[in-house]
Amino acid sequence: MQRKPIVGISMKTYKNHNSEMIKYAKELKDSIKFNNDIEVIVFPSMGTLYPVSQVLKNSNIGYGAQNMGPVKNGAYTGELSIESLIDLKAGYVELGHAERRKLFNETNDMISNKVKLALDNNIKPVVCIGEPKILNDSKIKEYLKKQIQSALSKIKKSQINKVIFAYEPVWAIGGDNSANFKYVAKVHNFIRNILIDFYGEKYTESTRIIYGGSVSSNNAKDILNSPNVDGVFVGRFGHDVNQFLQIINLAK
Ligand code: PGA
Repeated sequence: MQRKPIVGISMKTYKNHNSEMIKYAKELKDSIKFNNDIEVIVFPSMGTLYPVSQVLKNSNIGYGAQNMGPVKNGAYTGELSIESLIDLKAGYVELGHAERRKLFNETNDMISNKVKLALDNNIKPVVCIGEPKILNDSKIKEYLKKQIQSALSKIKKSQINKVIFAYEPVWAIGGDNSANFKYVAKVHNFIRNILIDFYGEKYTESTRIIYGGSVSSNNAKDILNSPNVDGVFVGRFGHDVNQFLQIINLAK
């Protein structure tokens, strides 16, 4: 089945000044010609989410937060509530990034609560999964199966098609180059099969699987052309808006 490709970018906590992110979002908005052929999503750093939302809210470019709290509201000091995301008309939330898992001790169980919260409020979760180090095929499958089954454990089968998985092998994040495209194709195939085996084709055929981890305009083409790859999730190599636009054009 034909799935609409996604090109996402997370600014992590790299671009934190309103002025630079407003400029970036405006340049993107003015440069992309949409033909309903692609989904572009920007995840600004938390402090710049509001101004970016003001630039992008009536455009074809999606946006969201890089994380959110596990409940709608309450005594959760320091968390971003989904109520604020709804107010900002954010369509997406990134969940379970490797840095959240490692630096902030996010567990599969915490992530599954957030996946449910997002979907119950019509916000699409971009759920990051990926093995921590280079492993053999059966270990990779085992690791990813656990992450996937946990992420989907609290939602209805009918919601699975709205989930976007970002496959980000932890060892390829923050490096000079992405995982090799053949490796990416292999693991995306594993993920697709895990989804089909556990939940059935009908409930997972529109679930998209995108690749992240040192994606750049140099390696995006081969990755995007690989089977079962429904898009890419960009980090550092999209900080220059022209580089990001090049990757978007490759996906089109
Ligand atoms: P990177 O980040 O492209 O800068 O490695 C990707 C990610 O963590 O999603």
